[in-house]
Amino acid sequence: MTALHEADRIKRLPRYLFTIMDELKAKAVAQGQEVIDLGMGNPDLPSPAHAVEELCRQAAKVENQRYSRPNGDVEQAFKRAVAAWYRGRFGVTLDPLTQVLPLIGSKEGIAHLALAFMNPDDIAIVPSPAYPPHGDSVIMAGGTVHTVPLAPEAGYVLDLAAIPESALSRAKILFVSYPHNPTSACVDLAFYERLVAWARGRSLIVCSDLAYSDIVFDGYTAPSLMQAPGVRDIYGIEFHTVSKSYNMAGWRVGFAVGHPDVLRSLEKTKSYIDFGNFRAVQLGAIQALTGPQDCVRETVDIYRQRRDVFVDAMRAAGWPVPSPRGTFYLWAKIPPAFGAMPALDFASRLVEQAGVVVAPGAGFGALGEGYVRFSLVQPEERLRRAADRIGKVLAGA
Ligand SMILES: Cc1ncc(COP(=O)(O)O)c(C=O)c1O
Repeated sequence: MTALHEADRIKRLPRYLFTIMDELKAKAVAQGQEVIDLGMGNPDLPSPAHAVEELCRQAAKVENQRYSRPNGDVEQAFKRAVAAWYRGRFGVTLDPLTQVLPLIGSKEGIAHLALAFMNPDDIAIVPSPAYPPHGDSVIMAGGTVHTVPLAPEAGYVLDLAAIPESALSRAKILFVSYPHNPTSACVDLAFYERLVAWARGRSLIVCSDLAYSDIVFDGYTAPSLMQAPGVRDIYGIEFHTVSKSYNMAGWRVGFAVGHPDVLRSLEKTKSYIDFGNFRAVQLGAIQALTGPQDCVRETVDIYRQRRDVFVDAMRAAGWPVPSPRGTFYLWAKIPPAFGAMPALDFASRLVEQAGVVVAPGAGFGALGEGYVRFSLVQPEERLRRAADRIGKVLAGA
């Protein structure tokens, strides 16, 4: 057979380090090793029972088994539920019909936002390290990524003054995302106030990814871009999801809120690609957003306990990892005993010698090199065991 050639835009995508980690994990499992996976941010806790019950009940109804329509009754109810949730959670008022757009997971919306707006010469400003789709979506859409380093000394908070005017003049999109994956950095409302003041008069889309707003500890409350005064005067949008707050990652339900013009173009783009979410899934998600919220508090309590257990165990094992205020990630500098070992090699060593899978920092951009990310998606007892095994690798270095 003659060779098959992928499109250049796909060839341009960076190496997907998580695929390499998956292969290493499969190899370790095949060798009979008991592997503890702290790699992917894939919640292990159950979705709320009331959401699951509603999904099952609604899935049986014929009217829910047809294609979704952009403004059908269920779709409008979902938009109203999101608006009510934003009002309750952030005190922000949104018009459900023009300022809320349902998504098949926020990752889908992020990917299609770039497709909706990026021309070949356009730039998206993407902090590094970052959740990979912020940059990958731009590359897939044929645009150019301008990377802005997030400095550990600045608490990984984006320094707007570090964005050069040459990039800004061609910039269509700017991404921010706090609480931050992978570094778990958090910001206060003053950050969004500065961002909105900076963006006023510019035509770029300021895009906040707020996936982890509810996974916060120690009295910290995560603000939303939508709370910043003047946000309606800029092209500001925010992505959110039920994946993390409600442990519904497999359901594929997210939403974008914000400037109607931006959402209209995103909706138009999506209309050529998908038919929206399964209606039964939307009805289940409505239950999650509008039903009792104790499940969120219980989830956060579990992550906080896991964080404390893992941080203590890692410190006792000789690795002084930081304790995050937000997200279920720990972002840790590779110990000096491993010198300048690339993060992928170090992560590979942890799989081979400790049976622990972590995410190599370089998977989040070049500026993640030298770090690894631990996801607290395992029960406490397995987290203790992982730290114990990692300690043995450190001791042998
Ligand atoms: C920062 C961030 N945004 C978005 C997502 C994707 O969420 P969803 O399940 O809604 O696609 C993730 C998933 O890990 C994430 O870390």
